[in-house]
Amino acid sequence: MPDKTPLMAVPPDLIERLVRPEIRALRAYQVPPAAGLIKLDAMENPYPWPEDLRGEWLEVLRGIEVNRYPDPQGRALQAELRQAMDLPAGMDLLLGNGSDELIQMLALTLAAPGRRVLSVEPGFVMYRMIALFAGMAYVGVPLRADDFALDLPAVLAALERERPALTFLAYPNNPTGNLFDADAIGQVIAAAPGLVIVDEAYAPFTDASFLPRLGDWPNLLVLRTLSKMGLAGLRLGYLVGPPEWIGEIDKTRLPYNINVLTQASTAFALRHLPVLQEQTRRIRAERGRLHQALAQIDGVRPYPSEANFILLRLLTGGAPRAFESLKRAGVLVKNLDGAHPLLGDCLRVTVGTAEENDAFVEALEAAL
Ligand SMILES: Cc1ncc(COP(=O)(O)O)c(C=O)c1O
Repeated sequence: MPDKTPLMAVPPDLIERLVRPEIRALRAYQVPPAAGLIKLDAMENPYPWPEDLRGEWLEVLRGIEVNRYPDPQGRALQAELRQAMDLPAGMDLLLGNGSDELIQMLALTLAAPGRRVLSVEPGFVMYRMIALFAGMAYVGVPLRADDFALDLPAVLAALERERPALTFLAYPNNPTGNLFDADAIGQVIAAAPGLVIVDEAYAPFTDASFLPRLGDWPNLLVLRTLSKMGLAGLRLGYLVGPPEWIGEIDKTRLPYNINVLTQASTAFALRHLPVLQEQTRRIRAERGRLHQALAQIDGVRPYPSEANFILLRLLTGGAPRAFESLKRAGVLVKNLDGAHPLLGDCLRVTVGTAEENDAFVEALEAAL
C-alpha cells in the first residue's frame, strides 16, 4: 500500500469561528454504557416479546422491500394507530422518529428570532436542548419544591412576561413522575399565547390524558410515543391535533422519516396490542410494589408516580455515592443529583421486572 498523505488537522480557530457558541458549550447527549448491568435508567419496558410473536414478526419482515423508500406519511401505520389508541375523530396525526423528532419539528415550525419555548423544571431536558438547536430562547419555570406540583401563578406570570410561542408540559412529568393538576393545565392552555404541547410519553402507565380534550382549545396538541410501552428500539412518536396545525408542522418533516422496518414492525405490534398492554399492566403493578418497598427503607423518600419510573430522594444525602455503589452491585439507575436545584440527592429508577426491582432494593439498602 502506498503511504497515505498525513491527515490534515482541523484548525481549532476554524471550529471556533464556524460552530455556534451555544453548540460549542454543549456536551453531546450522554448514554452511559450498560453492558452487564440491570438497566433501570432509561424508562424501557423490561419484557421481551413472547417467542411465537417474534416468529410471526420475522415473517412480516421477510416480505419487506428495503430497496424501496417507505410510505412518506406512514398511512397504514397511521390507520393502525388511530384504531389502537382510540384517537379522537377530526384530529390529524403526524409520525416522528421518536417523539424527540416531533419536538424538533415543532420548534423548527415556530422558531424565529426572539421567540421562546417555555416549560417547567425539573422537566424533560430535550425541550431546552431542542429550543437551543432551533435558535429559540428557553424559559424554565420551577415546579413547587415540596411536591413538584405545577406552580400555577408562576407559570401564568411567565406566560404573560415571556409570551412563548411554544409551551411543553409532560403529563406525567419526567423526571418527577407526577401528574400536574388537570384544571391548572387547562388554565395554562387558555392563557398561553402560543401552542401548548401536552407530552404524554408515559400515557401507558396512567389513566389520565388530554387526548379527549383536543378541540377544547385551538392551541392544544398532544404528543405521544410508543417507546415506553415497549417499542423504544423502533423509534416511533406521534403528534395529535387539529389538521390546520398538523399540516403546517408536517412541512418541516424530512422525507421518509419513518423507515420501512419501523412502519411494518410498529403496525404489527399494534395488531398485538394486548401483549403490550399486559406488560404495561405488570409494570404498573410492580410500580406499586416497588414504591412500597422503597417507602419502607429508612432515609428514602419515594415520590408518587403515574409513570414507569420512581423518583426517590435520599434524605441523609450521598446520592452520587449510592449511585456508584448501585452500579458496582450491577444496577444502573439515573443519578439526578446536580441536574436541577430541586433534585438534590435524587435518583430515578425505572420499574423493571420483579427480580430486577428486588435486586435494586437490595442493592440500595446495602448502599445506604
Ligand atoms: C417526557 C418525555 N417526552 C418525550 C420523550 C422522548 O421519547 P422518544 O423520543 O423515545 O419518543 C421522553 C423520553 O424520555 C420523555 O421523558
